[in-house]
Amino acid sequence: MSILVTGAAGFIGYHTCLRLLARGEQVVGVDNLNAYYDPALKHARLAQLQEKPGFSFFQADIGDRAAMADIAANNPHVTDYINLAAQAGVRHSLKQPHDYTHSNIEGHLVMLELARANDKCRHFVYASSSSVYGANTKLPFSVEDRVDHPISLYAATKRAGELMSHCYSHLYRIPTTGLRFFTVYGPWGRPDMAAYLFAKAILAGEPITIFNNGDMRRDFTFVEDIVSGIVGVLDNPPSGEGEAVPARVYNIGNHRSEHLMDFVGLVEQCLGRKAEYRFLPMQPGDVKETYADITAIQRDVGFAPTTPISVGVPKFIDWFKTYHGV
Ligand SMILES: NC(=O)c1ccc[n+]([C@@H]2O[C@H](COP(=O)([O-])OP(=O)(O)OC[C@H]3O[C@@H](n4cnc5c(N)ncnc54)[C@H](O)[C@@H]3O)[C@@H](O)[C@H]2O)c1
Repeated sequence: MSILVTGAAGFIGYHTCLRLLARGEQVVGVDNLNAYYDPALKHARLAQLQEKPGFSFFQADIGDRAAMADIAANNPHVTDYINLAAQAGVRHSLKQPHDYTHSNIEGHLVMLELARANDKCRHFVYASSSSVYGANTKLPFSVEDRVDHPISLYAATKRAGELMSHCYSHLYRIPTTGLRFFTVYGPWGRPDMAAYLFAKAILAGEPITIFNNGDMRRDFTFVEDIVSGIVGVLDNPPSGEGEAVPARVYNIGNHRSEHLMDFVGLVEQCLGRKAEYRFLPMQPGDVKETYADITAIQRDVGFAPTTPISVGVPKFIDWFKTYHGV
């Protein structure tokens, strides 16, 4: 298989590329290496990928049609797409909304067009988000639930990506699968996410910011489990047989809703330090609780997450200390 992975220098993209390369796939990585968070971390992930046979890399913006058409022309062997490049983060979408429409809508469309123009296209897999559930209160979140009340622009663009993909599956019979990720954490994780922010502040002796007085629950999912789901899904494209349209959307979470303060406690325990808490109200666009119903992905591809936070958090902290030399 030859797979074009966008967001290859990102957190989930890096781990996905590693897994695909380990099983002998040809991987074409694309990333614009933007400065939403420290690009040094993206370069460090990339440096590791570039040591592996079977990996090639192109620095490009997925919203740049000409650049992406060039990459496609130079890589006619590509059969599969994993579109992970996106502007992520709920809070940043309040400040820089156009970053989201550019990468998550225009960029997603450019990627769908590449798949459409490729008569060898086997499967188009892409990242969606648990944030599409908005302020839904029925738990766990099921792919059967309504998702037409987003409470952040990030969520709205992710939902738009799902709708555009369905449309391309319908019009052009492109098999597409969207994955609604639930709070992914692990080694090489994102500096704007809870695990990293907490570890960094605690080690610096600074208070950690906790929203909604800590009354939040998250379905924290370890990155290796996420990658198992991505690869499992990639290997099982919707055929369209028995389905009107070869388009699927799955939740991919740990199927355990953890109390935020338990997660904080584990980070403190692994670092051997108690944090000082700075409690703040709920942030606009944020949701109080997430919890994934993973019945569909379990049934169709045998997805079975195996990493509780008691195992995953120590792995993250080990990496964090090594990476930062502490
Ligand atoms: N990490 C999570 O908890 C989580 C949860 C839900 C959804 N997601 C989604 O999963 C995907 C991967 O997320 P991640 O956590 O690895 O984030 P990340 O920011 O680490 O990775 C995204 C990568 O895409 C690149 N990128 C962004 N815009 C681009 C563009 N226009 N062209 C080319 N490259 C671009 C970035 O440089 C980055 O390296 C994203 O689509 C994100 O929205 C992540």
